[in-house]
Amino acid sequence: MIYYKTEEEIHFLKLSNQLVSRTHAELVSKIVPGTKTIELDKLAETFIRDNGGVPGFLNYHGYPNTLCISVNDAVVHGIPGKYELNEGDIISIDCGVYMNGFHGDSAFTFAVGEISELKQKLLDTTKASLYKGIEAATSGNRVGDIGYAVQAYAEAAGFSVVRELVGHGVGRNLHEKPEVPNYGRRGRGVKLAEGMTIAIEPMINAGAKEVKQDKDGWTIRTQDGMPSAHFEHSIAIRKGEAELLSDFNVIEEQLKKFR
Ligand code: MF3
Ligand code: CO
Repeated sequence: MIYYKTEEEIHFLKLSNQLVSRTHAELVSKIVPGTKTIELDKLAETFIRDNGGVPGFLNYHGYPNTLCISVNDAVVHGIPGKYELNEGDIISIDCGVYMNGFHGDSAFTFAVGEISELKQKLLDTTKASLYKGIEAATSGNRVGDIGYAVQAYAEAAGFSVVRELVGHGVGRNLHEKPEVPNYGRRGRGVKLAEGMTIAIEPMINAGAKEVKQDKDGWTIRTQDGMPSAHFEHSIAIRKGEAELLSDFNVIEEQLKKFR
């Protein structure tokens, strides 16, 4: 079933999501060549706990870390480890915070130093496709309108949409109903209504849409080895425009500072 939230519940969801975004911002200065992904994970865990939260992904279905860190051809659910960032990498950092009984969930893909034109276009397109999805997420519209908007934008740029993983409701549980695919048909699916809180998270591939899972049981990669990007916002459905619960502005302020 779908859990519709009160204003108070949305307030707490926003607090959790704002801590997720501040955690992303905190990492920006360390997203440079030579940093090990496990170092980013430890920094994030410490920052979240220092600010009164708990890592929301840690132990979720046995997930071993605070962050999912997915580099280049990794799409999502990469496990932090000894890998050292290289100039030219793109790195998706997915972060969850559990606080006051509510989950925050947001992801951002970062460039490590100078990246190729293709990777830059992939990042720009994926982020823009997320905002296209959010624009379509108004009460009275349907889940299919979100997926259609994301897919139409990403495919017009010559990229492909991952099908196997989807966005979701978010609240007292990290994953609630409804599922929110990044592809779909206008006017189809669950009707959006005020009080629904959902995470929209396009995973867009530079090459073909097909993915595979690593032997670690988590990491999802493109089959063709081409790069993939991932951006995720948690939002609340409102009468007009949706309300962002997570916030990329705090991240982008830091990016400006360290560029
Ligand atoms: N944002 C991710 C998702 O919604 C959360 C990571 S799943 C976990 O699927 F298992 F790693 F926690
Ligand atoms: Co999510």
